[in-house]
Amino acid sequence: MSQQFQHDVLVIGSGAAGLSLALTLPAHLRIAVLSKGDLANGSTFWAQGGVAAVLDDTDTVQSHVEDTLNAGGGLCHEDAVRFTVEHSREAIQWLIDQGVPFTRDEHASDDDGGFEFHLTREGGHSHRRIIHAADATGAAIFTTLLAQARQRPNIELLEQRVAVDLITERRLGLEGDRCLGAYVLDRNTGEVDTFGARFTVLATGGAAKVYLYTSNPDGACGDGIAMAWRAGCRVANLEFNQFHPTCLYHPQAKSFLITEALRGEGALLKLPNGERFMPRFDPRAELAPRDIVARAIDHEMKRLGVDCVYLDISHKPAEFVKSHFPTVYERCLTFGIDITQQAIPVVPAAHYTCGGVMVDDQGHTDVPGLYAIGETSFTGLHGANRMASNSLLECFVYGRSASADIVAKLAAVDMPHALPCWDASQVTDSDEDVIIAHNWDELRRFMWDYVGIVRTNKRLQRAEHRVRLLLDEIDEFYSNYKVSRDLIELRNLAQVAELMIRSAMQRKESRGLHYTLDYPGLLDEARDTILQPPTYAD
Ligand code: FUM
Repeated sequence: MSQQFQHDVLVIGSGAAGLSLALTLPAHLRIAVLSKGDLANGSTFWAQGGVAAVLDDTDTVQSHVEDTLNAGGGLCHEDAVRFTVEHSREAIQWLIDQGVPFTRDEHASDDDGGFEFHLTREGGHSHRRIIHAADATGAAIFTTLLAQARQRPNIELLEQRVAVDLITERRLGLEGDRCLGAYVLDRNTGEVDTFGARFTVLATGGAAKVYLYTSNPDGACGDGIAMAWRAGCRVANLEFNQFHPTCLYHPQAKSFLITEALRGEGALLKLPNGERFMPRFDPRAELAPRDIVARAIDHEMKRLGVDCVYLDISHKPAEFVKSHFPTVYERCLTFGIDITQQAIPVVPAAHYTCGGVMVDDQGHTDVPGLYAIGETSFTGLHGANRMASNSLLECFVYGRSASADIVAKLAAVDMPHALPCWDASQVTDSDEDVIIAHNWDELRRFMWDYVGIVRTNKRLQRAEHRVRLLLDEIDEFYSNYKVSRDLIELRNLAQVAELMIRSAMQRKESRGLHYTLDYPGLLDEARDTILQPPTYAD
């Protein structure tokens, strides 16, 4: 039997953005935080590098803003960048107050700004400003915030819950278009439950799983973006998919990232013959922004016909490497690679979705009562290319500002009346799950081949043709069979892929992460690619 629930705030997603929002809401509110699988399965847990912020006295807001604007290829919204950076110090202080065990700087002195935590450097940053917990920052943050959430009786942490779709007044044929909650598959029972809420928050992460090779965990399927689109929200800049330059290249090493902080601490990129190549591509060499480094690697791999390049930090003292990068060291060792002695084989892989659901500084989407925060959202911070470690910062800044906005609106918003249950009367159990598995593979492969690091009109047209066929097939499947996690994710992934392809086709230039051989130059005017769903344009 499906169930009905009511909460003041429904948070879909249990990573950095969702947890920081939930933890900053008042203790008298009933809050549900949903996770598609186990709570720790999201991207936050796997983040290695850290959080960018202006923390010591030798750094400035202006410098962080300028670095972000430079990396963003002319498309960052300066007001969003400034808003984020100006709130960075208080966001970090909040994390420290929660108990996040950031790595301390044993040599801190007044001469270098006197900040007590160690700050590292990553591509595009002109200053050391990345606060981190060794090379497992996401795990440290997630574990701390989760422990705090577990102590809050008003926060229900619900695992194995997959949101199927948002419930809006428009969907129910009522006047208005407010979001009233969501239909959610409980994987424990197989039933789709109804979650009514005064406020609903999408914090579901990005969509890098749309690509065959990705640094992301399995859940990064663009669920929030697809649900928001279906509910009538505009999305923006979905052609900008960031490829992390250095993921471990090893047949058994699924999705393992080699943090950019290695390059920040002096690691060098080399060809198989040991020659450095980054200085040929950019004066900042290994610390150029990610789009430049990933494209340079892609170029060299194609030019030489090799499967990977190498990242070498073996010239640094072994103790330094082991203490700064214990996770990378241990993990590589399990594959027989001792990074204190030898270079690491690496390749680029899909890492971050720069575009997303359009929001303002408080995380409002186009649908009243619906917020989007973190990688799901498009705030304007990242422009055409996200700078390393700005994304965790965005989660905390916008998680906290959306929370403050909800508090300010509480008195004006009632609990929705009883909502209709999910209608499963027309569907049966699927006897053709092979179709889902096949479509998953097909989608991720053609996105990699046709909508990857280097694009062309022809490749995009091919991808468009295929995604349309897939969407029709998935739609038919969805209408006839009971929903499962795989089907829900495939439906969302295909929808977001279609939006990515459409956005890429609209951009007739090469800018930041969008590089096409047919339009290698830059247009004079930098413009966002904004897509409006049919319901919104009505
Ligand atoms: O390389 C890294 O540690 C990743 C950082 C980021 O994506 O912000």
